[in-house]
Amino acid sequence: MKSIVILISGRGSNMEAIVRAAIPGARIAAVISNRPDASGLAFAAAHGIATSVVDHKAFADREAFDAALAEAIDAHRPDLVVLAGFMRVLGDGFVRRYEGRLMNIHPSLLPAFPGLHTHRRALRAGVRVHGATVHFVTPALDSGPMVIQAVVPVLPGDDEAALAARVLAQEHRIYPQAVRWFVEDRLTIAGEQVRVRDEAASAAGWTVPALDPSPGGGC
Ligand code: GRF
Repeated sequence: MKSIVILISGRGSNMEAIVRAAIPGARIAAVISNRPDASGLAFAAAHGIATSVVDHKAFADREAFDAALAEAIDAHRPDLVVLAGFMRVLGDGFVRRYEGRLMNIHPSLLPAFPGLHTHRRALRAGVRVHGATVHFVTPALDSGPMVIQAVVPVLPGDDEAALAARVLAQEHRIYPQAVRWFVEDRLTIAGEQVRVRDEAASAAGWTVPALDPSPGGGC
């Protein structure tokens, strides 16, 4: 059984998708937020998952916050730490401590549009496709070996909210898929790339996320 700790800062819909996926061989040991008012905490608690808050405002600097966060995480001895809408930049030391077992989801087709306001910037740039990326975290912001990406069209008349919603629906498919692959020991980091053992790709070359077997699920 692999133990997973999920870090959130707000709504936590990606965390919810991972919990609902009920991945065989995985146990969500804890959901930790840096914000006491993160609405995702209620969902986690209602599902019997341990929750805690490490409020960044209570610490004098990033090092102190990172140290407290690492302590809270390590109490659960996780195999994997999942950043799911976690809105704090983590220091190099923290990232190295969890090297190869720290994942993030970013709402763009990396390496395009790292940083904030990705949907607004995609619309402004006039790209025809946009999407989301799950990647292992390295010290540089929104970079690191990519595990899976999902592509969506940018449609005429899209505004930021419409595009964000289209991308988010795909995030909820690919993040559980990436976690499932990790839990199944199918991911190998080779330099800047991730190899996925026995990846199921369609005839068109697209990765086909596994269907959620839990009743009422489907992400
Ligand atoms: C998602 O779009 C994620 O890609 C980004 O922040 C958003 C978090 O949403 N990093 P949620 O908290 O998972 O609902």
